[in-house]
Amino acid sequence: MGYKVVVVGATGNVGREMLNILAEREFPVDEIAVLASRKSLGTEVSYGDTTLKTQDLATFDFAGWDMALFAVGSEATKEYAPKAAKAGCVVIDNSSLYRYDPDVPLIVPEVNPDAIEGYSKKNIIANPNCSTAQMVVALKPLHDRAKIKRVVVSTYQSVSGSGKAAIDELWNQTKGMYVPGQEVAPSVYPKQIAFNVIPHIDVFMDSGDTKEEWKMITETKKIIDPSIKVTATCVRVPVFVGHSESINIETEEFLDEDEARDILREAPGILVVDKREDGGYVTPVESVGDFATFISRIRQDVTVENGLNFWCVSDNLRKGAALNAVQIAELLGRRVLKKG
Ligand SMILES: NC(=O)c1ccc[n+]([C@@H]2O[C@H](COP(=O)([O-])OP(=O)(O)OC[C@H]3O[C@@H](n4cnc5c(N)ncnc54)[C@H](OP(=O)(O)O)[C@@H]3O)[C@@H](O)[C@H]2O)c1
Repeated sequence: MGYKVVVVGATGNVGREMLNILAEREFPVDEIAVLASRKSLGTEVSYGDTTLKTQDLATFDFAGWDMALFAVGSEATKEYAPKAAKAGCVVIDNSSLYRYDPDVPLIVPEVNPDAIEGYSKKNIIANPNCSTAQMVVALKPLHDRAKIKRVVVSTYQSVSGSGKAAIDELWNQTKGMYVPGQEVAPSVYPKQIAFNVIPHIDVFMDSGDTKEEWKMITETKKIIDPSIKVTATCVRVPVFVGHSESINIETEEFLDEDEARDILREAPGILVVDKREDGGYVTPVESVGDFATFISRIRQDVTVENGLNFWCVSDNLRKGAALNAVQIAELLGRRVLKKG
């Protein structure tokens, strides 16, 4: 016996990846419905060896469905997630709408699986921001051993984190650079993304941080420990898929780089690739289609008492969104619904 599962936003980057991962991980599905906007009605999407026809979210009845994996923007989530939740269908949401709601658990299954117990207050579970998800997978085992006091992170985020239109913009702008008269002006991004980097993701806040930076700070505290201080600089780079992060941590207790490497090797969800030679590290293109969060370049930061530096790479459409959502679905099944 399996679950009746709805994938909302099934024509998008994250929704399509959710369908791939549900099939790859053989999630116990009895029945599956795929939803998007009215304009996509009847559009076919792949699920394992089959194709499914997209239905209209606006008219879908969630009654009798076990769980809905939402991957639409905050606006559509605001309108439809409460309807699904009220109908008894547990919502696992990828947007930022519910992440900071104290009555909604924000879960990375390798890090805080016990938070699942809080799902029933609203029948909604939130998935973190893509750059937070991969970072907390790496921070948690180090925090458990040596208590992290402060994190300094700089991100190198791929364009797929901004949706389908951003992927097209990078592709067309890159091609257009070589064809006179076919230059593509910035539209999704405020400046040219082809052959460039942009130190600006999401809106600016009064503090001078961007909302993306604020999300990494706030979500890390909610998922791991409110006492961890985080400062972040989030940068968009001309990579299609795969987010990278340069992470510096300061810990309360001394943590030797070799011990940190061993801890990370044993930690769930992590693959350490850390050879001090040409190519002995992971780059974003190598993370595409993989489940792991890759850690490389682990080394002591000798400028502070207890400091470490490392490099963290993951497929943002997977660990940063679709994989984490499916892992939450598995957790929900195992711990709460217990059908599969
Ligand atoms: N990409 C990432 O790395 C990432 C990571 C974490 C979280 N997220 C979040 O996941 C969500 C989806 O991101 P994405 O990258 O998959 O975006 P996307 O590629 O642009 O896809 C958006 C999806 O939402 C659907 N949609 C939009 N408005 C709708 C409405 N009013 N009614 C019904 N369906 C609607 C679209 O359907 P149509 O095709 O019919 O328009 C499409 O299926 C966003 O909230 C995003 O912030 C993304």
